[in-house]
Amino acid sequence: MKKRVSVFRREHFNAAHRLYSSQWTDEQNLDVFGKCSLPNYHGHNYELEIQVVGEVDEKTGFVMDMKKLSELTDKYVLQRFDHKNLNLDTVEFKNMNPTAENIVIVIFELLRPNIPADMDLFIRLYETPRNFVEYPVK
Ligand code: NI
Repeated sequence: MKKRVSVFRREHFNAAHRLYSSQWTDEQNLDVFGKCSLPNYHGHNYELEIQVVGEVDEKTGFVMDMKKLSELTDKYVLQRFDHKNLNLDTVEFKNMNPTAENIVIVIFELLRPNIPADMDLFIRLYETPRNFVEYPVK
């Protein structure tokens, strides 16, 4: 049986967001979402880790061409979210709070159709150096 290996690509984007419910008062939003609910938005330096798991190809010695993975991430994720206001500038978060949890699911769903089906994909997203999320759950 061929050996499966995990390969990782790290990417980065900056984006602004605001977490809130339009059905709540500013006070209730502040209570639930803290400073991330402040009305005038704020930015995060998001760090993204893309993990692809697959068999090592006998001819190339690669699981996946990392340049290709980088290009896919740029095309489907970075061009969409980098230097954007997630609430105002993206269709994905027009009606969904841009929490790290929701962002990581959206990024997975954007990339998944573009990664070969026999490979596994896992996304880790750092909203701050101390707060990060991962999807899907291992
Ligand atoms: Ni925030």
